[in-house]
Amino acid sequence: MIKYTLNGKIIEKGNETTILESASKQGIKIPTLCNNEHLTPFGGCRLCLVDVATTRNPDMKKLMPACTAKIGEGQIIETHSSKVIQARRFILSMLISRSPKASELRVLAKEIGLPEDSEEQTPAEKYLFNDAPSIVDTNCILCGLCVRACAEIPMRDAISFSARGMERTVKTPFEKYAETCIGCGSCAYVCPTNTITIEEVV
Ligand code: SF4
Ligand code: FES
Repeated sequence: MIKYTLNGKIIEKGNETTILESASKQGIKIPTLCNNEHLTPFGGCRLCLVDVATTRNPDMKKLMPACTAKIGEGQIIETHSSKVIQARRFILSMLISRSPKASELRVLAKEIGLPEDSEEQTPAEKYLFNDAPSIVDTNCILCGLCVRACAEIPMRDAISFSARGMERTVKTPFEKYAETCIGCGSCAYVCPTNTITIEEVV
């Protein structure tokens, strides 16, 4: 039996699970962008960060992604502490500065309490949310859901990440027609920003 504390509630569990799954069973909503229960967790977007300490070191809190972090004995988990909210707000501001036209990010901003009014934003949020020049013109937030869906559902690996930093993007091999693609549409189905769309070619 694993005993841990989640938002002040003591829980005893027998089976291994992630913090995200445990929170969801307790009716606690943690924002996610790169998680899909049918795909291997990736820990890419960092929006699901939660504060984790242990009973041995209750003051040593660490931010961990709830989608990949496993529940452990003696953990003290806080899903909505002020540090967590601040971190989520900052991460989302960065995602918005990369993909300002992705409406899903604006919806999430409302959910996590990132104020739209620049007066209420921190200077970093204000810059990222409103003033930062758009460096890349894409709705892709690099969540990797499409890449994992293609690799894990039809097992075709027709798309993958390419390049690093601001150049990073999702592509077919050598940007050519992907011979292994069977047109199943899994990539488009899981994409949270509708960056991938399916067209029928006749
Ligand atoms: S294309 Fe969509 S699913 Fe793929 S990484 Fe970008 S946002 Fe995520
Ligand atoms: S949902 Fe956990 S890192 Fe993206």
